[in-house]
Amino acid sequence: MGISRATITSCLALALFLRWGVSLFPYSGEGKPPMFGDFEAQRHWMEITVNLPLHHWYFNSTLNNLDYWGLDYPPLSAYHSYGLGKMFAKLLPSSVKFGTSRGFESPLLKFLMRFSVSASDLLLPALIVFFSVFKKLKGQHAFPSWLYITLALSAPPFILVDYGHFQYNCVSLGLTVWAVICLFTENISLGAVAFTLAVNHKQMSLYHSLAFFAYMTSTLVLKRADLLTTFRVGTMIISTLGLLWLPFGDYWIYVLGRVFPLKRGVFEDKVGTFWYALDRVTPIKGVYDDTEVAQLCAIVTIVSVLPSAINLFLRSGNPKLPQDDLLKTFLLCMFNTSLNCFLFSYHVHEKSIMLPCLAAVLLTPWYPKEMIWFITISSLSLYPLFHQEQSHIALLCVTSFFVLVAQQGKIITMNGIRSLYGILFLASVGGYLFLISGLHFITPPGKLPHLFPALIALYSFLHFIVFSAWFHYNQLTDGRTRAVKATPAQQGRKSTKKSQ
Ligand SMILES: *[C@@H]1O[C@H](CO)[C@@H](O)[C@H](O)[C@H]1NC(C)=O
Repeated sequence: MGISRATITSCLALALFLRWGVSLFPYSGEGKPPMFGDFEAQRHWMEITVNLPLHHWYFNSTLNNLDYWGLDYPPLSAYHSYGLGKMFAKLLPSSVKFGTSRGFESPLLKFLMRFSVSASDLLLPALIVFFSVFKKLKGQHAFPSWLYITLALSAPPFILVDYGHFQYNCVSLGLTVWAVICLFTENISLGAVAFTLAVNHKQMSLYHSLAFFAYMTSTLVLKRADLLTTFRVGTMIISTLGLLWLPFGDYWIYVLGRVFPLKRGVFEDKVGTFWYALDRVTPIKGVYDDTEVAQLCAIVTIVSVLPSAINLFLRSGNPKLPQDDLLKTFLLCMFNTSLNCFLFSYHVHEKSIMLPCLAAVLLTPWYPKEMIWFITISSLSLYPLFHQEQSHIALLCVTSFFVLVAQQGKIITMNGIRSLYGILFLASVGGYLFLISGLHFITPPGKLPHLFPALIALYSFLHFIVFSAWFHYNQLTDGRTRAVKATPAQQGRKSTKKSQ
């Protein structure tokens, strides 16, 4: 089943159309002085990195007051801002002038910033990379190519957070996918470098680190006992870290303090994590010492990710396991560990659901129904965030499009209403739509002004914890029998024939 150039072109055109469509909507903090939002944060980092010497970037001083959007991502993000800032200084100098450019907003700046997201998204070949993963899978799974690419490229969380809210997560996510491909094409050193870069662009990528660590140590040490490669991989990782961090010299400790902020509490806003849910029952945030809470979170998170990671470690060490099964276990571990990190770790933001979603996109050929469902509810869990920023319509449009594609691909079959999946999917999305309507049309009681965003967070938590349990079960009981036997399109064709 070849893939024609026309298919690729149309899928890419569609992907660009969705992305630029979303970027017409407002961004985080648009026209909201004095602090604005994520858009201003990114612009401010360009201003800081272009105008101040490197050791000032993460260091609080009268020149760089960190209370105003201090850099809180690792060095590669800062270098990325520096590179973009240099370009902006040429194209629109007033937008990065030191001190006077705070809150700078103009239609041209909005266009340039949106364009820089698009360029970062394409430059680090996230799009092409998604495609290559598919190519690798094509031999084993007869999943229709147009369907996989269209679904992967229209998954709403990635589009909305980067092109709507305003961030550059596409870089670290793209690097992570690249790393997965490297590992499974026998290029472990390059994979290690790509993943190290991902973690150094967004520390959130650490959610995926356990899967990489378990796989690499087990493959190199347990399976191959290949000391030379182990040494080479280790050297590559350390050199990459050195290149990124050494320029900061003695100031590296300040960088670290900014990247892992203890003082910002166990969660930021209403978010579907365990700690937020627990906080509704018995208050934690602001009651206990942040350091103690962070330690507790760390312990719970580590315990919760161990079963999945150990399973991957043992399976990777097994020389008889076919490569395709190993890839599936790796991706399941990536999904399970990152979802548990989302649920249990310290200071989690709503948008971090993108990390399990990335694994979900890669797992779609094996578990089309479940993963489409997961990505759909993850998108809807972001509704309150986008409602605040007035781009909820964009969220609903892209999500509807995504569901429609899945429906066209016969993954969600509406004549399967009698089937359990159809009922569950409709009920779960219906629940979201009910809560979303409540948010818009029902005035909450005076004592609970944030009733509906809180209910959406709790409803999402319920979904996430069930998905975590179900896929742990799948990973730990092997789940080989559950692999897709026929393509969704073939299954669909069979059922339409019956109904005719
Ligand atoms: C940073 O320094 C400014 C003064 O330059 C001070 O007002 C502010 O509280 C400091 N912030 C932090 C996070 O230390």
